[in-house]
Amino acid sequence: MIVIKIGGSILEKIINENALPEILKEIDDDIIIVHGGGNYLNKYADNFGYEQKFVTSPGGIKSRYTDKNTLEIFTMVMSLINQKIVHSLKQAGIKAVALNGESFISARRKDKLVILNEKNRKMVIDGGYTGKINNIDVEPVNALLNKGYIPVVSPIAYSEESYLNVDADRAAAYISGYLHARMLILMTNVNGLYMEDKIVNEADSEYIRNVINKVGHGMDKKLLAATEAIDMGVQKVIISNPFNDIMSGTTIYKKAEVSKNY
Ligand SMILES: Nc1ncnc2c1ncn2[C@@H]1O[C@H](COP(=O)(O)OP(=O)(O)O)[C@@H](O)[C@H]1O
Ligand SMILES: [Mg+2]
Repeated sequence: MIVIKIGGSILEKIINENALPEILKEIDDDIIIVHGGGNYLNKYADNFGYEQKFVTSPGGIKSRYTDKNTLEIFTMVMSLINQKIVHSLKQAGIKAVALNGESFISARRKDKLVILNEKNRKMVIDGGYTGKINNIDVEPVNALLNKGYIPVVSPIAYSEESYLNVDADRAAAYISGYLHARMLILMTNVNGLYMEDKIVNEADSEYIRNVINKVGHGMDKKLLAATEAIDMGVQKVIISNPFNDIMSGTTIYKKAEVSKNY
């Protein structure tokens, strides 16, 4: 079983060029797709005339703040993206089922967020509607896989208070861990992890853990997700660009077999 996360960064290209069936042809295994969609959200929030809020963490990382309104737009946009992916697979004769993450992913709402205010002082605000995943019910996914369907999962989770927005890289990591997938592929718009302008072809999870705060926004989440998947027993995580080569980019193992490039 292989879990494939499609990053928002390449979703539009994949959909416009109807490239997904061709990309998946290379894979001869059960497949679960998880998608992101942050950049679509920016576009639609603008279309709806809704001004998004961004916050900056004490570590300097800027991210979207999910208030109630943003959560609702997020949910609408994710269901549209999910629909487009399922449509492109079905058109190519591939059996696929839309699976809202809320059906099987549970999370806890982050109560508080520490951010920097305009004066660069730390302040604590309400966490909004993002969640940290704490459980995956594997049954619905296994049932679909057993019947030969590809589940197409949106990054939304259940919590008692509300449904929540969850990070898609980490959702894919948790799904791969709980389902004992042999591989997690994080498809994105770069060929892999770059360190000092050179691609890292292979690395072990310890190296990856050590460079998480040395890389920029976007890649940091992927590296964190990769280490989480490996810690949960996934044998191999690949960060790659499907328009280059889906099966090679940066490959991360618990212990790298060859220690090159670092
Ligand atoms: N060291 C790095 N190596 C590769 N990409 C990096 C690095 N640091 C930051 N990035 C950025 O991470 C981005 C991928 O993450 P992101 O934009 O969140 O894409 P996705 O939508 O696929 O999750 C790349 O486009 C790149 O700009
Ligand atoms: Mg991302």
